[in-house]
Amino acid sequence: MGVIGVLTAGGDCPGLNAVIRGVVGRADERGEEVLGILNGWEGLMEDNTVLLRRDDVRGILGRGGTILGTSRMDPYFHGKGMISCEGTLSRNGIDRIIVVGGDGTLRSAMRLADEGLNVVGVPKTIDNDICGTDITFGFQTATQIATEAIDRLATTAEAHNRVIVVEVMGRTKGWIATYAGIAGGADYILIPEQRYSIDHVVDVLRQRHRSGHRYSIVVVAEGIDPPPGYEPGEMKQDAFGFDRLGGVAYAVAAAIEDNTQFETRVSILGHIQRGGTPVASDRVLATRLGVAAADFAIDGLTNVMVAMRATETVPVPLVEATSAIRGVPDDIYQTAETFFG
Ligand code: F6P
Repeated sequence: MGVIGVLTAGGDCPGLNAVIRGVVGRADERGEEVLGILNGWEGLMEDNTVLLRRDDVRGILGRGGTILGTSRMDPYFHGKGMISCEGTLSRNGIDRIIVVGGDGTLRSAMRLADEGLNVVGVPKTIDNDICGTDITFGFQTATQIATEAIDRLATTAEAHNRVIVVEVMGRTKGWIATYAGIAGGADYILIPEQRYSIDHVVDVLRQRHRSGHRYSIVVVAEGIDPPPGYEPGEMKQDAFGFDRLGGVAYAVAAAIEDNTQFETRVSILGHIQRGGTPVASDRVLATRLGVAAADFAIDGLTNVMVAMRATETVPVPLVEATSAIRGVPDDIYQTAETFFG
């Protein structure tokens, strides 16, 4: 039997170190060796690895970031797929690889699996948008951070009789916005999955302020379209050519202020949602996913992603996990809507 490789790729996410610890802990218990691959796919393409023993992963459970490093490098965008990885695999005797990543990373993992690599995926993203699993680790931490920010912003908004538009991450989906908005009692929430009319937003806020509550919190997901006539500046692209999101809150705030004359401010939470220690539930989730991924790799259950379904860790084919981007169901958004205004 060869060695199990593990890498973390794409944007970082609270809980990555807990997954690595889970993988190494279970592999060690079962007498298998784990090699950490540094800086995501880059380390696999450039033979940059480190041996991970049980002692190497002590004390990292609650630490943010990833001890392995990460990057947006990709074996297909920046290399020739399996050909670019073969050298590292054979030189180090890696015959199974645990890939901790989001949608893009899991897609590349599936392509490598099609080329013969034994892969186990672990769903990672604060965006919570991966199919086949009930939840991704990092989401609950990001939601907690966003909720605490909303709580704080509400007090300053109230003190000044202002509207504050809070922008949260989530790329093309509105999970963080919806959950943090519900938890923080937002007066309106805008997410990409739900079409919105700025006139309706304005009406709801006017009504709220008329009834004596002269401040409001509007939560917007970074991936929404701006209100008509309020186009944001030119978008920069990331390494894969995807738009680097961020800033649509300024367009929403301008539209609200122009139409209501309520003094309006913007707060973009950005990467603070991804940094720092994971909440307890993410630590547990990440540990369980890491342990299950090691078990799957050792038991020969590959070309799957470890998913959380209810209270069980189960294998889901990579093809299913990467088939779509999972959005917020209508009924959850409707729960939030009940409290608008
Ligand atoms: O996918 C996770 C995420 O944090 C998104 O919510 C956000 O749009 C993006 O990554 C930011 O990426 P970067 O770290 O490259 O700016």
